[in-house]
Amino acid sequence: MTVRDDRGDVKQTTTGFRGPLMVQSLTSAKSKFLSLIDRKSDEFNISHNRFFSETHWNQEDLLDKNILEVGSGAGRFSKVVLEDTNANLYSIDYSDAVTANYRNNGSFAPERFHLFQASIYMMPFENNSFDKVFCLGVLQHTPNFEDSIKILINKAKTGAEIVVDFYPIKGWWTKFNAKYILRPITRRLSHEYLLRIIENNIDWLIKLHFIFHKIGLGVLTRFLPICDIHGTFQKNISESKLREIAILDTFDQYSPEYDNPQRISNVVEMFRKNGATVTFSGFEKYSDGDLFAAVVRAIKD
Ligand SMILES: C[S@@+](CC[C@H](N)C(=O)[O-])C[C@H]1O[C@@H](n2cnc3c(N)ncnc32)[C@H](O)[C@@H]1O
Repeated sequence: MTVRDDRGDVKQTTTGFRGPLMVQSLTSAKSKFLSLIDRKSDEFNISHNRFFSETHWNQEDLLDKNILEVGSGAGRFSKVVLEDTNANLYSIDYSDAVTANYRNNGSFAPERFHLFQASIYMMPFENNSFDKVFCLGVLQHTPNFEDSIKILINKAKTGAEIVVDFYPIKGWWTKFNAKYILRPITRRLSHEYLLRIIENNIDWLIKLHFIFHKIGLGVLTRFLPICDIHGTFQKNISESKLREIAILDTFDQYSPEYDNPQRISNVVEMFRKNGATVTFSGFEKYSDGDLFAAVVRAIKD
């Protein structure tokens, strides 16, 4: 694996790093935000389930393979790869979340874990380098979805598999939602301020969300500025965990600069246009069939 080390803006947080080691102090709100992510990923086994359901990768086949993870966040999937396989993992994310990833996963298998703070558009790797590439929950937050797909394909070796998931457009109603109405404002707020607003309002929003579902008006919850608890949360979680995750997921939806959901058929076309053969496109079930993700898997031509 060749890692380019000629970019001043790329920082690697692992043993044997080449660039300047990333040491950034987090603002207290962001730090709190990231610790929410930690707890979320620690307490549930959904990530393992989601990773293997979406990729269909076999743990044994990943032995010594070089895997690229784009947009690691706080590292819930980095953890799965490091702990449940013997692959070499190269992870990037452009945000402070790499600090949390390093804290969560940096000591488990440092010889196999290479973590960088870098944008998808400036990754410190040569093209045609990776045996597997995955990018989960990220592409809709990048400024140009198709350019991002193209880059993922470029980084894969010929014959290597690329797996992505993303927010799907299911119909005209997808954007008829509080999130898309309010995001032009919320994405401009400081993360600290936005988090405070969400924390101060989450309790009545959760209550109203459940009342709407109870009285058969679940369809109206799309106009509440809160994530979809009913359709996307695991059943039987405690009230306090539900509250924490609701804060985190609502923040995740209202804070990113970009949010470009896509039709699955358009994403398939993007892969085809950019030199990959799609082997699967559609919804994959995970978490014992409770939850669904829009997934495309492709092989580089
Ligand atoms: C919703 S989070 C998903 C994180 C992780 N994959 C997960 O599922 O827990 C999206 C992540 O994509 C990262 N991201 C967004 N745009 C990016 C870009 N242009 N380059 C690299 N990372 C990006 C964000 O910093 C964030 O950590």
